[in-house]
Amino acid sequence: MGTMVQLNEAGLFKSQGLIGDKWVDAENGHTLPVNNPATGEILTSVPFMGKREAEKAIAAASQAFTSWSKRTANDRSKILRQWFNLLIKNKDDLGKLIVLEQGKPLAEAVGEIVYGAAFVEYYAEEAKRVYGDIIPSPFPEKRMLVMKQPVGVVAAIAPWNFPLAMITRKVAPALAAGCTVVIKPSELTPLTALAAAELALQAGIPPGVVNVVMGDAKGIGDAMLDSTEVRKITFTGSTGVGKMLLAGAGKTVKKVSLELGGNAPCIVFDDANLDVAVKGVLAGKYRNSGQTCVCINKIFVQDGIYDKFAEAFAKAVSGLRAGNGLEPGITQGPLINETALEKVERHVQDAVSKGAKVLVGGKRHSLGRTFYEPTILGNASDEMLIFREEVFGPVAPLVRFNTDEEAIKLANNSEFGLAAYAFTENITRGWRVAESLEFGMVGLNEGLISTEVAPFGGMKQSGLGREGSKYGLDEYLEMKYVCLGNMAQPVG
Ligand code: SIN
Repeated sequence: MGTMVQLNEAGLFKSQGLIGDKWVDAENGHTLPVNNPATGEILTSVPFMGKREAEKAIAAASQAFTSWSKRTANDRSKILRQWFNLLIKNKDDLGKLIVLEQGKPLAEAVGEIVYGAAFVEYYAEEAKRVYGDIIPSPFPEKRMLVMKQPVGVVAAIAPWNFPLAMITRKVAPALAAGCTVVIKPSELTPLTALAAAELALQAGIPPGVVNVVMGDAKGIGDAMLDSTEVRKITFTGSTGVGKMLLAGAGKTVKKVSLELGGNAPCIVFDDANLDVAVKGVLAGKYRNSGQTCVCINKIFVQDGIYDKFAEAFAKAVSGLRAGNGLEPGITQGPLINETALEKVERHVQDAVSKGAKVLVGGKRHSLGRTFYEPTILGNASDEMLIFREEVFGPVAPLVRFNTDEEAIKLANNSEFGLAAYAFTENITRGWRVAESLEFGMVGLNEGLISTEVAPFGGMKQSGLGREGSKYGLDEYLEMKYVCLGNMAQPVG
């Protein structure tokens, strides 16, 4: 264990991949450092695996599928419940790992463990509710039914912004359905995934059901796409990579779920409750330092409330505290790396050059490295880069608007359709706006919408399929129609 990583359960600090029942290094011995984005320190290194290791992991998952898929739903449910218990029992250690490799403040990181574990608990319960159907037959001699069966081996590719929750949101429904998985966590944040896999083994999930490989994203991705044993790809990340996976999955016609970019708009109407709007936008914008796919990235504020909102919002944002997430009182961690920081800088410079006014922040933080000041830009407009590209950082541009139609048009003017938000006290207006927004999720008077019980996913180029909720289970199930002939019943 690296000197700066002190966990209560030292065994959760894993720095090898998991294939079948073995913790393994890369076959060629290559490794990859894992950095703390707040300090730049190297926490440890993990194997830089590639195509060969991914193929072995797929073979292990394929072998394990035979028995895991045949266990009763009750059995799988009990084991998943045990995994949930262990995730919660170890939430402080897992939270610490997230802070160290990803940067978010400790309270938020522990919150992510609770959020991530909730998917495991939810699907432990749903495992027992995979019902089929009996179809009323139009033929007297035939009976018809639909059964649901696991799709098979699942390849789950996860991002760095939620090192646990984006994995459990995929793996828990897959396992509940009877599938086995090969996980590729982000190379930036593999440690939480490896700890979660160790807890999965401790919970009694049989070897081979969960495998973890990381390193050469292209090599691993190719192995997953080329394999006929992998029947499903589930991915959270950029729209660019999502499109490549979608095209690649076509070679073997796999099922695909994609959760891609968002660039969420938010509309604050004149009749919004100011306190509710400020609280909601603050939470929806600055969660994880702006690094979520559902973060509010464009704020359209109606003329009559614009000045009051800008003032109250600026006051709230000025109260945010950036720093190392392990220190008490910190609300804003670092950005994930220098590249992310440079993108934020580029967006702010572009906006200012096109007439935006910095109301708060607007530059690198005095802490240096990957820290950027929580920022608000006034007088923003849809010609700015920040409106087209997801900033993925702590920058909130405010745009003034007049009519509802104008706001809806501005919000829908995007290739993305993941999440959108609106603040109004008028239920009729709120309902009309929710119906008009071309987004998979809408928060009305609410900036935090994510939960295991609701379907998470987008329209347009924000993705395919849904994660979480009862709908999330269908992504891992095949529907099989069975027709029984020669079933005419003698009458009387
Ligand atoms: C994401 O950023 O992809 C997920 C955010 C969430 O689950 O709330």
